Amino acid sequence: KRTGLQRLQDNINSLKSVPLLESLSNDVLTKVADVLEVEFYPAGAYIIRQGASGDTFFIISSGSVKVTQRLPGHLDEEEIRTLGRGDYFGEQALLKEDCRTASVIALNPGVECLTLDRDSFNQLLGSLSEIKEKDYGDEQRMNRPVIPEQQEYD
Ligand code: CMP
Repeated sequence: KRTGLQRLQDNINSLKSVPLLESLSNDVLTKVADVLEVEFYPAGAYIIRQGASGDTFFIISSGSVKVTQRLPGHLDEEEIRTLGRGDYFGEQALLKEDCRTASVIALNPGVECLTLDRDSFNQLLGSLSEIKEKDYGDEQRMNRPVIPEQQEYD
């Protein structure tokens, strides 16, 4: 049976392989490992829904997700990109105390994430410059003029 200490060491080891966290001291990494929760999402699950409020930050420990966005004036969700092991998401709503800017959906055969709540995120990761400077260009995409469908005449 695995002890709490072994689990903590496992968590620290998987955190060390996340590029975002490379610059953190062992002390901070240990604190992160101590507070994180491990969550599993089956294929197709909406981990985040665009427009919802949210208090969780996610690091993918296995599997992959797709990020989709519904733009004003468009009916369909646009698929923006996929993220995989070692990538993170969900920081925008925490940084700006705003709604989720995109949806994030688990892909086959499911996804395991390490999650932090808002307070731990702010305390432990909030000062990372990569997070503060992250810009997906969403503002621009959101404000792009809607080009009407070409009318077809015969
Ligand atoms: P948040 O807005 O909290 O929830 C949705 C997340 O999707 C967002 O944080 C980012 O982590 C991520 N996200 C938003 N826009 C993009 C994008 N254009 N490319 C990749 N990830 C994105």
